[in-house]
Amino acid sequence: MAVTDMPRYNEDMNIFEKHGHAIIWGDVIEALTTQIPDGSVDLVFADPPYNIGKNFNGRRDRWPSDEAYLSWCYQWLELCISKLKPTGSLYVMTATQNMPFFDIFLRERLSILSHYDSSGVQARNYYGSLYEPILFGVKDEDNYTFNADEILVEARTGAIRKLIDYRKAVPTVYNSKKVPGNVWNIPRVRYRMDEYENHPTQKPTALLDRIVRAS
Ligand SMILES: C[S@@+](CC[C@H](N)C(=O)[O-])C[C@H]1O[C@@H](n2cnc3c(N)ncnc32)[C@H](O)[C@@H]1O
Repeated sequence: MAVTDMPRYNEDMNIFEKHGHAIIWGDVIEALTTQIPDGSVDLVFADPPYNIGKNFNGRRDRWPSDEAYLSWCYQWLELCISKLKPTGSLYVMTATQNMPFFDIFLRERLSILSHYDSSGVQARNYYGSLYEPILFGVKDEDNYTFNADEILVEARTGAIRKLIDYRKAVPTVYNSKKVPGNVWNIPRVRYRMDEYENHPTQKPTALLDRIVRAS
């Protein structure tokens, strides 16, 4: 890196600056409170720890309880909102299991545009809704039915390209079948499809076929 390309480091503020951009290196609560003016931000993209035990430079991403994790998240989410301009937007990621709590907290404070929308219309001013979530729970995680062999689908990556998996003790070709992941591509039931009934929220047969076979 040429010397002129080096980021300038402001030690008092813990800020790295280059070409008019800045990275603040600090604790989210402290940095947001002390270094970002309220109502000044166009876009927040937050990718926080997910409370799943990752090791971030020696600091473990594991809070003593879900409540403790969420109450920390609510603090910085509230701060993020106060930093947004009236025209600002917030995107936030977290683990699937935390997202309902973020959603309930945020819908009191923002207009959430990523909520489900049954119109199926191609949206122009937000990301159109292309999925419906399904929650899958069992009474006993050590004793439940899951007929994996009944619902195998084509594995499209290694197998289709006839790749060899060299991570195995004896290198072998990739499996050509796999258990589906948690994104299922099943078309909605549309007017005049064979299975269509006069029903406002009909679920596709293929969806229930997979679920009944598996569980
Ligand atoms: C999911 S990772 C983000 C990864 C990042 N988007 C990337 O692509 O490199 C969460 C980050 O939050 C940081 N973090 C954890 N606690 C923090 C805190 N109190 N203040 C600021 N950052 C924190 C972790 O060090 C980690 O880098």
